[in-house]
Amino acid sequence: MPDDDPKKSEEHAGVSRRDFLKISTITAAVPLVTGPPTVLAAGEEVPVYGPGKVPIVLTVNGKKFNLQLEPRVTLLDALRDNLDITGAKRVCDKAECGACTVLMDNKPVYACAVLAIEAQGKQIETVESLMSNGKLHPIQQAFVDHDASQCGFCTPGFVVACKSFLDRHPNPSAEDIRKGLSGNLCRCGTYAGIREAIAQTARKGA
Ligand code: FES
Ligand code: FES
Repeated sequence: MPDDDPKKSEEHAGVSRRDFLKISTITAAVPLVTGPPTVLAAGEEVPVYGPGKVPIVLTVNGKKFNLQLEPRVTLLDALRDNLDITGAKRVCDKAECGACTVLMDNKPVYACAVLAIEAQGKQIETVESLMSNGKLHPIQQAFVDHDASQCGFCTPGFVVACKSFLDRHPNPSAEDIRKGLSGNLCRCGTYAGIREAIAQTARKGA
């Protein structure tokens, strides 16, 4: 998705971040639906994986992990249950709420809607990667400064989504922020604080 002109790419094209995330996760989860048709040579067989465990290599926060997982296992479950990387949260588990948002090759995706086997060869970044030398990332600090969290369950996903949004929109308007956050839900209603956190981080140029 081109990033040069956010207004053109999101507003003018009528694509909100929620739409973008849905497209991303659908594309990631069902590549044969959206990609070019696979043409098999005569006698060539479609590779079949599973249903038992298969070797899967994931790169998460710059580290490589060798796993044995059933092909049906989602990236979210692999992170939480197999790697003990629990920042991304399982809330709806059906690509609705954004609590499981992680970056895959720098794009925000719902980890509950991506299979671990499909995340191989991609750079996965979770909220755990944002702190550096014991210091919060500016967007994390801004969440603290603006009291942008209550129960905190949605917060890691929001933080990752906000960081990605700011990378693509360093000077967002209020409308950009509203649209840019539409892929994440907060049941505690902390939206005002989150919007302020984004505005503060943008003002500081982080
Ligand atoms: S848990 Fe993945 S979108 Fe809600
Ligand atoms: S802070 Fe509770 S769901 Fe967002």
